[in-house]
Amino acid sequence: MTPVEEHLRAEIERRGPIPFDEVVEAALYHPDAGFYATSGRAGRRGDFLTSPEVGPLFGAVVARALDAWWAEAGCPAVFTVVEAGAGPGTLATAVLAAGPCCSEALRYVLVERSAPQRAIQAERLALEEASAAFAGIAEPEGGGPDVVPPTGPIVVSLPELPGAPGPCIVLANELLDNLPFGLLERTAIGWSELHVGVDGDALVEVLVPTATEGWPAAPIGARVPCQTGASNWVWGALALAGPGSRIVAIDYASTTPELATRPWSEWLRTYRLHARGGPPLEALGSQDITCEVAVDQLPTPTSNRSQADWLRAHGIDELVAEGRQIWQERAPIGDLAAIRARSRVTEAEALCDESGLGAFRVLEWAP
Ligand SMILES: C[S@@+](CC[C@H](N)C(=O)[O-])C[C@H]1O[C@@H](n2cnc3c(N)ncnc32)[C@H](O)[C@@H]1O
Repeated sequence: MTPVEEHLRAEIERRGPIPFDEVVEAALYHPDAGFYATSGRAGRRGDFLTSPEVGPLFGAVVARALDAWWAEAGCPAVFTVVEAGAGPGTLATAVLAAGPCCSEALRYVLVERSAPQRAIQAERLALEEASAAFAGIAEPEGGGPDVVPPTGPIVVSLPELPGAPGPCIVLANELLDNLPFGLLERTAIGWSELHVGVDGDALVEVLVPTATEGWPAAPIGARVPCQTGASNWVWGALALAGPGSRIVAIDYASTTPELATRPWSEWLRTYRLHARGGPPLEALGSQDITCEVAVDQLPTPTSNRSQADWLRAHGIDELVAEGRQIWQERAPIGDLAAIRARSRVTEAEALCDESGLGAFRVLEWAP
C-alpha cells in the first residue's frame, strides 16, 4: 500500500467513503507523498510532454502574444504576467529567452504548488524575492513625468496565486486538467456520485445517489466528471485579476454531454514515465491523474479556439519561416543557433497537429 493509500484508508475508516475528488487531491498533492509533491512533472526527464516541453517555439509564440496584449494595454510601465501551474519553469524560460518587447515592463510571476518543481525553477531562472514583483513604481520627490520604473524582467516564484496582482495576464497551460475533479455515474435511479471506500485491503468504488438536475441525459453506466476544482480556479482567477486582465487557459477539453457518450477510461487518464498508467485507484501517488476539461462547467469563456488556430493568430508561421531562413544561412556553420532554427519546423508540426496538441483548446476570459 502506498503512503497516499494508507492516508486515505485512515481517512475512510474515520469518516466513511470519501468523494473521488478528495482521492485525486491526495494522490496528486498530498504534501509528503502526492505525485506532484514528490517526483512527478512534465518534461522529457519527467512523466509526460506538454507544449512548452516540446521546445522553445511555444514560449516564443506566447512572448509574441504578451507583446500584443501589452501594446493593446498602451505599453504600461509595469506589465504583470502570472503563470499558474508553471511546473519546472520551462515556459517562463522560453518566454524570457525570446526577448519580448515588453521585457523591461515585465513582472513574471510563476505559481507552482509543487515544492520540488519550484526548486527546479530556482535553478533555471534568476528569481527575485516575491515582493519585487509587487512593489509599486517609486515616484520621484514631488512626482513629475520622469518616473523610472524598475527594469524588468522581474521573475518571482510563489506556491499559490498572489493576493491582488491588479490588471494582469494569467496563463495556465495544462493546469485545469490536473485540478481535483469528482465523478458521476448514471444509474437506473438517476445520477450517483462516486465515493471511495475500503474492502479488506482494497480501495473500492461506492456510488452515492446525488441530485440529477443540470446533468445531461445519458445511458445507464455513463460517467461524467464534476469539475469543481477547475471551475473554482477560473472563478478565483477572474476575481483576483479584475478588470483589464486576461485569463488564458490551454488544455485538452470537451463538453459534459460529449464526455457522457465516451468510455470514461478515455477521458480520465493516468500517466507515469511517458506511458499510460494503471486504473485511477491503483498505486495512488505514483501516477498522474488527469481529466479532459468539460468547458461547459466553467465560467463561459470570451474566446475558445484550437491551439493550432491560436498559435497561427500569434505568429507561429512567421517564426517558422524565420527559422528556415536562419537555417539556410547558418547550416554550413552548424552551430546551436542553426540547429535551434531548424527544429522550429518540427516543433510547429507537433504544436499544431490537429490530432494532438493542436486540437487543445485555448480558453480566454477578459473580466
Ligand atoms: C500538467 S502540469 C503542467 C506544467 C506546465 N504548465 C506545463 O505545461 O508543462 C500541472 C502543474 O500544475 C501544478 N498545480 C496544480 N494545482 C495548482 C495550483 N492550485 N496552483 C499552482 N500550481 C498548481 C502541478 O503541481 C503541476 O506542476
